[in-house]
Amino acid sequence: MRRRIVAGNWKMNTTFHEAMELVEGLKSVLTEEVVGETGVIITPPSLYLSDVVESLVDNAFIAVAAQNCHEEENGAYTGEVSAPMLASLDIDAIIIGHSERRQYFGETNEACNAKISQALNNELAAIYCVGETLEERQSGKFMEVILAQCIAGLEGFISEDMDNIILAYEPIWAIGTGETASPEQAQDVHAGIRGWLSERFDTETADNVTILYGGSCKPGNAPELFAKADIDGGLIGGASLNVADFTAIIEARTKA
Ligand code: 13P
Repeated sequence: MRRRIVAGNWKMNTTFHEAMELVEGLKSVLTEEVVGETGVIITPPSLYLSDVVESLVDNAFIAVAAQNCHEEENGAYTGEVSAPMLASLDIDAIIIGHSERRQYFGETNEACNAKISQALNNELAAIYCVGETLEERQSGKFMEVILAQCIAGLEGFISEDMDNIILAYEPIWAIGTGETASPEQAQDVHAGIRGWLSERFDTETADNVTILYGGSCKPGNAPELFAKADIDGGLIGGASLNVADFTAIIEARTKA
């Protein structure tokens, strides 16, 4: 079902102590009134997931996701984390194909496709990220790039699988740069993705897929972004590390 979601991607930030403090801070301010119908997800470093899940055991408002998983179920891949391992910690979702993984760790669309399968096979939702570089934006070919990521990343999945796949549009030129896609630019891409989903699957499926925007989303620009018809919420980097900012973005989603 299409949901309003605000997800915080903590990336490689926070010590253990800082992470637990951030969780406690969020627990204290995220009330029924703030959260409303908004699904809130936090994505701490994988090392802390077990403790974070435990500290949220009695909390009805905050779901927990991992930032990545390996494309294989298990095996000789020193240092890697598999989807079955993550599922055994009782988390809810895995971010897959973040541009930082694609850019710095050579993750291909095909690898992302295998990782999404791993998430779904282990009853976890997948948050699949797509987005173009500045060069691709300026060349005018950005929609082709984004749809190529959608086509290859979602290869083989059927309509029912889309119940457990959230998409996130994150223009690389807007991540951590302070530069945001304008609400119109973001809406155009989201509508383009939804249009493609309705051809690839059907209109009902396309209508039901949650598509998040990510890239310098802050309390100041969140209301305008969330006011757009096809922007269902946000995937927040920097601002998710601050309780007040993340809460303000959640409130913006709840009120929009
Ligand atoms: P920023 O909000 O820091 O730009 O990061 C966005 C992002 O990459 C979320 O996954």
